[in-house]
Amino acid sequence: MTDYISENRDGHIVELLGGLSTSFAISILNSSPDCIKLIELDGSLSFMNHNGMCAMEVDDFCMVEAQPWPSLWPESAQQLLQDAMDTATEGGTSRFEAFCPTAKGKPRWWEVTVSPVLGKTGRVERLLSTSRDITARVEREKRMQEHERQLDDYAQMLRRELAEKKELLAAKEVLVREVDHRVKNSFALIIGLLRLQMRNVSEEAAREAINDAANRISAVARVHEHLYRDESVQHIPVRSFLQDLCRGVCSSVGGSEGQVEMVFDDVTVPSDVAISYGLILTELLSNAFKHSQSDDTRVRVALETVPDKADRYLLAVEDNGRGLPEGFTLTEATGLGMKICKIYVAQLSGGLSHSRSDLGGARFVADVSGV
Ligand SMILES: Nc1ncnc2c1ncn2[C@@H]1O[C@H](COP(=O)(O)OP(=O)(O)OP(=O)(O)O)[C@@H](O)[C@H]1O
Ligand SMILES: [Mg+2]
Repeated sequence: MTDYISENRDGHIVELLGGLSTSFAISILNSSPDCIKLIELDGSLSFMNHNGMCAMEVDDFCMVEAQPWPSLWPESAQQLLQDAMDTATEGGTSRFEAFCPTAKGKPRWWEVTVSPVLGKTGRVERLLSTSRDITARVEREKRMQEHERQLDDYAQMLRRELAEKKELLAAKEVLVREVDHRVKNSFALIIGLLRLQMRNVSEEAAREAINDAANRISAVARVHEHLYRDESVQHIPVRSFLQDLCRGVCSSVGGSEGQVEMVFDDVTVPSDVAISYGLILTELLSNAFKHSQSDDTRVRVALETVPDKADRYLLAVEDNGRGLPEGFTLTEATGLGMKICKIYVAQLSGGLSHSRSDLGGARFVADVSGV
């Protein structure tokens, strides 16, 4: 046993065992929970404490005695050991972490400190290595790293999927816009063809019939245009749609916008409900202009919510014309306009009624559902 054993921790000499008996010094070293080894300057192992032998699963010190210390470690750690030994030989202390399985092959990680042991003359005579088992910590860190890696992979996968979905969505949006555009053009083409045909027909009744058909198709086309414009495929705000529709009907019957007073509550309804409103309104408004027989036709068009009744609306059209013919009844009315109104009012679980308007002419009110 050496005369002086100094253990350098954190750069401080903390223990000086000079002058102690060998057995006492060994018993002190054996009491350390760490694996303590003495290494000769030629690198051979000359001592290993009791806990070290347990930790390294060395049953008998003879198995490792006088063997070059680095040769007991895996090749990947040998350079670290050599460097630490060189530093200690020159009087310095170094610390590193490395992997070394036990003699029986159990995987272990160690925090190793190598420091010089000085003789009486102050010269380095041996090296002292303290290895602490840090396997639990390293494995915990590895598990955390593995979790982090898995999370990173997962996040990357999600980012990739999101990017793909965004791309698909963008492509779909382009497609939808293209389809919308084509539908809009097709409606315009059909309406244009009907109007062209109308100009080539000399009979007044036939011209009117074609114009009515064009107006009815316009009502459907306008709903589509509003859906497309508002970028909502299910619901549309009714006010702007009905205003737009009234203007269209006015111009198609040769009237002006100023002749129609519009009172529309600001409500939103499903697109198929809006189409029904549009078709009903087209018929009632066309009738107001067509049958008023007034030089200065005035029409009031309204969509109002029914007080205390959720999702019920009153769609009313009244004019200042000559009023309904004597004995007019809805059940007996045979025109296509009234038929269309009745069909769509029934679809909206509603009822259609008529009366005399304050304006002097006819008044039609459809009590309809908004869903
Ligand atoms: N605002 C109104 N003022 C006066 N009479 C009207 C009014 N609305 C409808 N009528 C009467 O009700 C009848 C039925 O109307 P309806 O819309 O069903 O047929 P139409 O307008 O004559 O023809 P179309 O099939 O082109 O609509 C009309 O012919 C007209 O006599
Ligand atoms: Mg009509």
